[in-house]
Amino acid sequence: MSTDKVSVHGGWASRWVFILAATGSAVGLGSIWKFPYMVGVYGGGAFVLVFLACIALIGVPVMLAETLIGRRARQSPANALKALALEAGHSGKWSWGAFAGMITALLILSFYSVVGGWSLDYIIDMGRGDFQGVAADQVGAYFGGVIADPWRLTLWHTIFMLLSAVVIAKGVVAGLERSLRIMMPLLFVMMVILLGYSLTTGHFMEGVHFMFDFHPDKLLDGLLPAMGHAFFSLSVGVGSIMIYGAYMPKNSSISGTIVGVALLDTFVSLLAGLALFPIVFAAGLNPSEGPGLMFVSLPFAFGNVAFGQLMGVVFFILVAIAAWSSAISLLEPMVAYLVERTKIRRGWVTFWLAFTCWFVGLGTVFSFNIWQQAKFFVNDGAGFHLYQWGAASGLDFFGVIDFFTSRIMLPLGGLCFVVFAGWVMGRDAVRDELSIRSPFLFALTLFLMRYVAPIGILVVFAAQLWK
Ligand code: TRP
Repeated sequence: MSTDKVSVHGGWASRWVFILAATGSAVGLGSIWKFPYMVGVYGGGAFVLVFLACIALIGVPVMLAETLIGRRARQSPANALKALALEAGHSGKWSWGAFAGMITALLILSFYSVVGGWSLDYIIDMGRGDFQGVAADQVGAYFGGVIADPWRLTLWHTIFMLLSAVVIAKGVVAGLERSLRIMMPLLFVMMVILLGYSLTTGHFMEGVHFMFDFHPDKLLDGLLPAMGHAFFSLSVGVGSIMIYGAYMPKNSSISGTIVGVALLDTFVSLLAGLALFPIVFAAGLNPSEGPGLMFVSLPFAFGNVAFGQLMGVVFFILVAIAAWSSAISLLEPMVAYLVERTKIRRGWVTFWLAFTCWFVGLGTVFSFNIWQQAKFFVNDGAGFHLYQWGAASGLDFFGVIDFFTSRIMLPLGGLCFVVFAGWVMGRDAVRDELSIRSPFLFALTLFLMRYVAPIGILVVFAAQLWK
């Protein structure tokens, strides 16, 4: 197969634009919203350590695998796996793994858009001055009030989904570059300012200890969640990075680029944690608060400093943009696939897929209010129930989608992609795409993709089952 062709969907102008787009995909609610609240729920240091190990040993190899598969095939994930498998004399059924990934991406987008909507809502609330001089418990009550209102959540969820769909409908390559070029560096600056604030709270070291003190007893509980979140945070396991790889120019180095994107993403996550937890402790909030953690701690900080109102508005705009550039990469794989496989126009494909995700997302909207009592997979003293209204334990609708996607489908999708790149594509094809000059580094990369990452994924699954 010739490797210097361009995808039918267009291509990035340069390696630099790929870096922007991939960073835009990776850095998002996963780093700023989800990472801190999961660190809180899973008890701090042990989770962070496993997360970092999973990024380095599993996430980066999977990300490399996705990028090189995408760039070699220059097609949507399912078609890419099929074409490359047939080329290497293997079964075209490999495409099913990528197909499952593309569906997973849509399921993730369904709740991602709801939380993206919370950030949009908070831009307005901040701007109105709702948080000026508030006490910590008032912020909690405020957030409770927001999520208790299904109409309000649905409105912002709808707006967020529309904003993402507009860019996709026009084509990712055209739409993303201009906005990200300015916004990503700004987000960075804003996180550093927040970090500066958290240094002044007098609780900074408490936050550092919470994040980095290692408690071995908490290790097992956080293992699978941390691995799942490593995938989530890097945008790997569903084909997001693969489709962006398909738009990448041939003459740019994959490995250096990918390692850079992974480092940036991890850095933003750690920055978010270090900025947030000191504020959480200073305000006397509970670190295991759950999905609301960012939305109760940061407004408290913004509400009680000079220029906080303005900074708060800027901050939530940046979060919304980071979320938006990630949402786009969740929708793109399936859109590209349907554009390749059908004669339907890109705009219509986008509209129907976004509508479907929006509809499924209503389940997440209702999880926080009218369906709060609807619990799935209930396992209490009285035995196991698939579904029970009003049970004390179990997962709500959002919990089910989150569990199924992050803990099960992302690692499985990642497994499929690294095994494919490591074992199916053939050494020469991988060498040609990666173009790593040093034989040692190439051998190391191949070793990570062939053995370390797949075995690591299986070990974490096994540990979860037997714990
Ligand atoms: N990585 C993004 C974030 O952290 C979310 C995301 C975008 C994603 N594309 C993905 C997660 C693909 C899993 C798979 O916010």
